[in-house]
Amino acid sequence: MTESVSAEGNGEDLLAREILTRDLRCVTFAEEHISDRYLAWLNDPEVNRYSRRRFVRTSETEARSFLAGLSPANQMLALTLRASGRHIGNLQLGPIDRHESHGEVRILIGEKSEWGRGYGTQAIHAACSFYFQALQLHRVEAMSCNPGFIRAVERLGWIKEGCLRERFLLDGRRLNYKCFSLLRREFIPTATLQVKEVAC
Ligand SMILES: CC(C)(COP(=O)(O)OP(=O)(O)OC[C@H]1O[C@@H](n2cnc3c(N)ncnc32)[C@H](O)[C@@H]1OP(=O)(O)O)[C@@H](O)C(=O)NCCC(=O)NCCS
Repeated sequence: MTESVSAEGNGEDLLAREILTRDLRCVTFAEEHISDRYLAWLNDPEVNRYSRRRFVRTSETEARSFLAGLSPANQMLALTLRASGRHIGNLQLGPIDRHESHGEVRILIGEKSEWGRGYGTQAIHAACSFYFQALQLHRVEAMSCNPGFIRAVERLGWIKEGCLRERFLLDGRRLNYKCFSLLRREFIPTATLQVKEVAC
């Protein structure tokens, strides 16, 4: 899976600007992405079935304050289709801990018609490219009980480390919340990296 990763900044302030995968253009999440469709995704029970946010409703004001709170330690990319430019979801790169050298991946493809086309797998791989090639982190990690997410990280070679037992309440049942990670030495580096340095 070959990508092109563009980042901007120095050291701890490095920001992902654009990651191109085969089908996706992942770009810095901005005001223009907070559309009615985006707000509908955040409040769609089916989209959020496996999300930590499933019990809350998100208003436009809250979405804007989330955007304002993003930082080099918690970044977000909008996932857009290269072919049409359509915004289909978001990829969260964070929280990132530069001291211990690890970062989390969270993903939401809000357009349900786009599920199952390989975009989730591409986006997770794109996150790994940024973390391992641009930030030089030691490990990436994620927790999930979404079968699609689990299948995607397993296909990308992530390791199941264990689970938080009976942690996730779904339809009155308590599911194990599975923990996955990938170390830099386990990542297959195929991306072409372009880091633009900015003066500070
Ligand atoms: C989870 C999510 C990111 C997966 O993205 P996607 O683009 O649909 O996934 P992909 O098309 O890359 O598929 C990944 C793999 O999972 C499989 N898969 C997808 N949905 C599945 C499901 N519901 N059950 C079982 N397997 C599933 C696919 O078949 C594929 O496996 P394969 O390559 O062996 O065929 C996406 O569905 C999503 O954003 N859901 C809503 C938000 C969410 O739950 N995020 C994760 C929270 S941790």
